[in-house]
Amino acid sequence: MSDAPEARAALRIARIFEEECGIRLSAHKREMMVARLNPRLRSLGLGSLAEYAALLDGPRGSTDERQLLVDKLTTNETYFFREPAQFTFLRERLLGRGTPVARVWCAACATGEEPYSVAMLLLDLFPRESFTVAASDISEHALGRASEGIYPQARLEQLPEGYLRRFFLEGTGSYALGQFDVVFLRNVLIYFDAEGKHGILERVVDRLAPGGILLLGLAEALPPRAPAMVRVSRSIYARS
Ligand SMILES: C[S@@+](CC[C@H](N)C(=O)[O-])C[C@H]1O[C@@H](n2cnc3c(N)ncnc32)[C@H](O)[C@@H]1O
Repeated sequence: MSDAPEARAALRIARIFEEECGIRLSAHKREMMVARLNPRLRSLGLGSLAEYAALLDGPRGSTDERQLLVDKLTTNETYFFREPAQFTFLRERLLGRGTPVARVWCAACATGEEPYSVAMLLLDLFPRESFTVAASDISEHALGRASEGIYPQARLEQLPEGYLRRFFLEGTGSYALGQFDVVFLRNVLIYFDAEGKHGILERVVDRLAPGGILLLGLAEALPPRAPAMVRVSRSIYARS
């Protein structure tokens, strides 16, 4: 991006994105940002990033447009039973625990495949017990897809044997505040710098019951300054 006003506008838009969701886009990622925003600019009839930055900053600067920016720039990739080793761990842990009631929170659930996977697992393990699977994400678009609960066939390939027939039309969800026995926070910390990670972990760990389990993505680990948590297995921690 050689044009100075356009480069400044790109920087401004990246800052607005950071204000909205805490993710700092590196200069390298800013090219991806522009590519993802181009269709939006066209549909608004805008000819430059500078016009778009002015729209975001203006009086109509619009919570709605900022939300749309978040929807466009977050990466919502997910699938059912992603990182199956963690579901195996959870199955064994919950079965060994004695008390079947579980309050699970999928933070950054994207389009919902993760919380629905957890719900199916819990229904399978404890068909007569009640449990809560809460799910949240900063992208309203992704959450809308999650609450529709309609997925293309290709996304269902990782489902354990029999789950498709048994559960697939029964997806339900509810949200409850309080502490959780299990929190999924997978494949989202990677988008944050050290300070962002620390802030998120502090808040998330606070919502974890003593002895509760925190699952990060398999490629993730708690940073050194993380709140006191005990490592149980690869990318899995228990609140001490
Ligand atoms: C790659 S997806 C991970 C989905 C799922 N946890 C998994 O592992 O399959 C990352 C998600 O983090 C969400 N996200 C990014 N920043 C966030 C924030 N500040 N608060 C909540 N969710 C956020 C994005 O919208 C995106 O849906």
